[in-house]
Amino acid sequence: MTKPISGRTLPCPVQPARSYPEYLALDRLLALQVPHSTSVESDELLFILVHQVSELWFKLVLHELDQAIADLDHDRLLAACKRLSRCEIVFGQLSGIWQVLETMTPSDYRLFRSGLGQASGSQSFQFRAIEYALGYREPASPAWQAAPGAGQDLLARWHTRPSVYDRFIAALARAGYPIPAGEPERTATGVDSRIREVLDGVYRNPEQHWEVYETAEKLMDLEEAIQLWRFRHVRAVERTIGDLPGTGGTSGVGFLETTLRRRFFPEILAVRSTLYEDGNGQ
Ligand code: HEM
Repeated sequence: MTKPISGRTLPCPVQPARSYPEYLALDRLLALQVPHSTSVESDELLFILVHQVSELWFKLVLHELDQAIADLDHDRLLAACKRLSRCEIVFGQLSGIWQVLETMTPSDYRLFRSGLGQASGSQSFQFRAIEYALGYREPASPAWQAAPGAGQDLLARWHTRPSVYDRFIAALARAGYPIPAGEPERTATGVDSRIREVLDGVYRNPEQHWEVYETAEKLMDLEEAIQLWRFRHVRAVERTIGDLPGTGGTSGVGFLETTLRRRFFPEILAVRSTLYEDGNGQ
């Protein structure tokens, strides 16, 4: 099942950088934090930095998911696992960022919140693209289609192409697992029982299906890391604005709590219950 990674060459940079600041474009990078508040003691710099750092990590995650897709499409499951692990670790880092942000109290936030206007993390097109890349799609027509703006191309690209999970299932089909042709048929439970049965066979005999098993568990690790990030976000929001609505127009904490139920890999999750169905579970 695993194929060698081909085409790895060592490209020479066309023009080597002259210095660290030049290589990293530090002058441009460090000019990008522009607080709207005029108060010097405001925590807005912290707020902007934490968001920008998060967006930079999101950028890396999308890059890694792109690579994971290429690996899965070439049946290189273990190579894809490496990419997925990196994404998981990045989300672990992002979960730690809330500790820094939570040094900002509600009173601190109040000093500059009005300057945000309607700006909200819900407009983070990179975060939305990560959801699309992994396989979550809004049930209704996506909001960005009605509101063209930054990130439109990125969102369209990730929304229309098969997700990482679709690619994983396609790799199973190519490897001879009895995956039914066509789109998954998910019932009200959100699970395609035919795909779940295939995974059930894998999870009952992990040694015989090690690479598939390992990849499925890596996907689960990543989903959990994103859920934990979401959870820390909800708690940070609650302690900062309580039950106030968000600047993006949702109910705030109430809305964010519903996102904790979003799942990317329904059959990989479902298999945890069916493993016990023959009565052998403890
Ligand atoms: C004190 C700090 C923060 C507060 C009070 C806050 C508040 C909120 C609220 C209320 C929402 C729901 C949408 C709305 O009505 O606005 C939201 C969504 C979101 N926020 Fe934050 N947020 C904070 C920090 C952050 C940070 C640092 C990030 C990192 C990028 C972030 C990313 C997001 C994302 C991606 C969503 C969309 C979640 C989804 O739809 O699943 N937020 N935020």
